[in-house]
Amino acid sequence: MDSHDVEADLKHVLYSKEQIQERVAQLAERIDADFQGRDVLLVGVLKGAVMVMADLARALHSHVTMDWMAVSSYGSGTQSSGVVRILKDLETDLMGKHVLIVEDIIDSGLTLSWLRTNLISRGPASVEICTLLRKPEAAKVEIDVKYVGFDIPNEFVVGYGLDFAEKYRNLDFVGTLAPHVYE
Ligand code: IMP
Ligand code: MG
Repeated sequence: MDSHDVEADLKHVLYSKEQIQERVAQLAERIDADFQGRDVLLVGVLKGAVMVMADLARALHSHVTMDWMAVSSYGSGTQSSGVVRILKDLETDLMGKHVLIVEDIIDSGLTLSWLRTNLISRGPASVEICTLLRKPEAAKVEIDVKYVGFDIPNEFVVGYGLDFAEKYRNLDFVGTLAPHVYE
């Protein structure tokens, strides 16, 4: 879906399809350079990271393997609970691997901070994080994030994987919703 398909629900477009593609390509270039010759496992966090994972993986010029995890930190609302539960675990043994966690967004950082600690406990060679979006003003914990697409204001966003009540994930851009959608 593009912005015309959801015109009535939209407040504004934050990043267009083209802006996202360009930024993802830049991140991929850095990742290729930083990990050259290493055994890299991309760990996508379901469901939000599906789009960024698909585009980032294809923009890389290095071999990588991919695996997925699903964790829950949110209900259907828009507030982070800080309670993390594994809904789907990895199938890959992390021992000795260079892990790159791929996320859609870092809000409070609580999910990522928990996930990072959890993955480190499995004996990988390294764990780094790549996120398309980050909300610096919403941070409740400090996490070292090596690859950030865009820092955004503390506003709820949808599209390119990100949902509101499971909708809007298939927008090809990132935007904010009009107030009437939440009511
Ligand atoms: P955190 O634990 O607060 O950092 O939240 C992490 C997860 O909450 C993200 O991976 C998203 O799935 C979801 N989330 C946080 N902010 C937004 C948003 O603005 N729109 C949609 N989902 C969000
Ligand atoms: Mg997520």
